[in-house]
Amino acid sequence: MIKSITGFSKLSKSKKIDWIVDTYFSNAEEAKGILKQYWNTNNNLQQLHDEFIENTITNYYLPLGVAPNFLINDTLYTIPMAIEESSVVAAASKAAKFWLERGGFKTEVISTTKIGQVHFIYKGDFDKLNKFFNQVKSRLIDDTEAITKNMTKRGGGILEIELRNKTSDIDNYYQLHTSFETLDAMGANFINSCLEQFAKTFKQEALSFDLFSEEEKQIEIVMSILSNYVPDCLVRAEVSCNVEDLSENATISGEAFANKFIQAVQIAEVEPYRAVTHNKGIMNGIDAVVLATGNDFRAVEAGVHAYASRHGKYSSLTHAKVENGIFTFWMEIPLALGTVGGLTGLHPLVKLALELLHKPSAKELMQIVAVAGLAQNFAALRSLTTTGIQEGHMKMHLMNILNQFEANNTEKEILTKYFKKNTVTHNAVIEALNKLRVSNEN
Ligand code: MEV
Repeated sequence: MIKSITGFSKLSKSKKIDWIVDTYFSNAEEAKGILKQYWNTNNNLQQLHDEFIENTITNYYLPLGVAPNFLINDTLYTIPMAIEESSVVAAASKAAKFWLERGGFKTEVISTTKIGQVHFIYKGDFDKLNKFFNQVKSRLIDDTEAITKNMTKRGGGILEIELRNKTSDIDNYYQLHTSFETLDAMGANFINSCLEQFAKTFKQEALSFDLFSEEEKQIEIVMSILSNYVPDCLVRAEVSCNVEDLSENATISGEAFANKFIQAVQIAEVEPYRAVTHNKGIMNGIDAVVLATGNDFRAVEAGVHAYASRHGKYSSLTHAKVENGIFTFWMEIPLALGTVGGLTGLHPLVKLALELLHKPSAKELMQIVAVAGLAQNFAALRSLTTTGIQEGHMKMHLMNILNQFEANNTEKEILTKYFKKNTVTHNAVIEALNKLRVSNEN
């Protein structure tokens, strides 16, 4: 029986590892060896990573790949992507190349407003609360001055505070619903600090508001937190070309391709089972760039999927049409990203990724990330509606299967060549590898 442990976080790193390997592993030395293999020999760099979170026992590697040839608003980008799924970077690169020859991607930031809320309980008359709110509003803003000073100087800050009556949902429930402009910062810390100060001032000032009864003075703050739903922090990405230019070879005409492609998008627009997978493909591109640039992919995921359900039914994030012989494929997507603060100035690979992207502003990064998502969806739908997804996917997965069976470099070289012309399946790879090994023995 494994016993619980108290004071784990206070142990040194090596004591933590000792406890883990001794408690959970049949071969403690082997487990320790694996953990150590992933440590960085540069002590400063290792310490930096150790200190990102609590209870670090090693580093967790993901490949960082790049997808070149992305033409976005006439500027060329090579996009960094941190992801484990074999085919994602290859698909992005292919889509980038395809659209490079057709005018590239066009993007536009539609809005950049973020939201935070103080959720509170007030037992009393709404008119009195409203009067109190109007009286205290400027004080709420004044009391955050120490937090907002720099942001305001740069042109951002608190945009608006609204009192929202939510008593039709929950008895006595109200909000201070606040909008923010956080410029190049993702803004979570800034927003949460402002909200916590609002909550303090609001509760405190209520105690001396003359119109309130003793009960009404007792405002209960439930919580103060930003929202990851950012429908007004929106970016649009688009590609378009003449329908006939969509055809790359004689196997399918541009028109036939456009029709099938549009059908596939329409299915994702009306059918949630398909929409989830369709949008998952978009997130393959988005998350990979969000992660490579040190942004919060969980926040992005949560906000994007909520946006995909904004009309009451989960639906496609992308849309496609043909009008006057022009094929257009586009997406509008909410993205709260930062290029300052957080990991952006700390993690050496994040700094490198941002430099690779010409040190973008948050607005520029929104556009790059949206393009990665649109490109990924284009590549997926192109495969799905023509060759099927497995052909390209399994080709990219080949190396994983070869590694799983510990193929050496010569075997990898021979079999990669062989599978250029043959269909990759798990069994076919094992068979070919065994055959090769037997023939080498003889
Ligand atoms: C796989 O990671 C993503 C796809 O399933 C996306 C899609 O079906 O559109 C290929």
